[in-house]
Amino acid sequence: MLNIVVMVSGGGTNLQAIIDAIDAGVITDTRIAAVISNNEDAYALERAKKAGIPAVCVSRKEIPDRAAYNQALLAAVEDAGADLIVLAGFLVVIPTEMIQKYRNRIINIHPSLIPSFCGTGFYGLKVHEGALARGVKLTGATVHFVDEGTDTGPIILQKAVAVEDGDTPEILQRRVMEEAEWKLLPQAIDLIAHHRVSVVDGRTIIREAE
Ligand code: GAR
Repeated sequence: MLNIVVMVSGGGTNLQAIIDAIDAGVITDTRIAAVISNNEDAYALERAKKAGIPAVCVSRKEIPDRAAYNQALLAAVEDAGADLIVLAGFLVVIPTEMIQKYRNRIINIHPSLIPSFCGTGFYGLKVHEGALARGVKLTGATVHFVDEGTDTGPIILQKAVAVEDGDTPEILQRRVMEEAEWKLLPQAIDLIAHHRVSVVDGRTIIREAE
């Protein structure tokens, strides 16, 4: 059984996709041990409570010192006994100590085809604003392992989504979520739960199902 901790900052639709995929048997051999938010107002915390999942808020407001905050985040993850940390719209920089301790055991969903529209400053709607401003015809989503860079870790899964005439950032965000994010993130978790993902020379290899 893979114990996952899902870290969130906002609405939590990706968290919901994981909860639903576990309920539907799309993800197996996996339980959500805890949901951690940096934002006490995150609707994701409500979603966790409704699903009966322990939800904790580790707030910067309450712990303004960065080193103390990083320690508190790490402690919350360790208390939950995480085998895998899932960043589902978590907008806080992950402490280096956590990255080192959980090497190739932290995954992130990013709403573009990395290496486009990623890195510092590209999060949430800003990613889709960037894609529309550049006029790309295809965008998508990426699930990747987290390393010390911003959106630079080994790529696990990607899915392309068409940009359509008249798209606004909000419309495009919704399409990328529906067509890519809510499918890819559960799929990646299930692959990891079944030991099908390995990292070799900074790239992933996905083993076929037996
Ligand atoms: C998602 O689109 C996710 O890909 C994005 O934030 C949104 C969170 O939505 N993450 C990033 O931009 C990370 N760089 P949600 O709270 O409804 O899952």
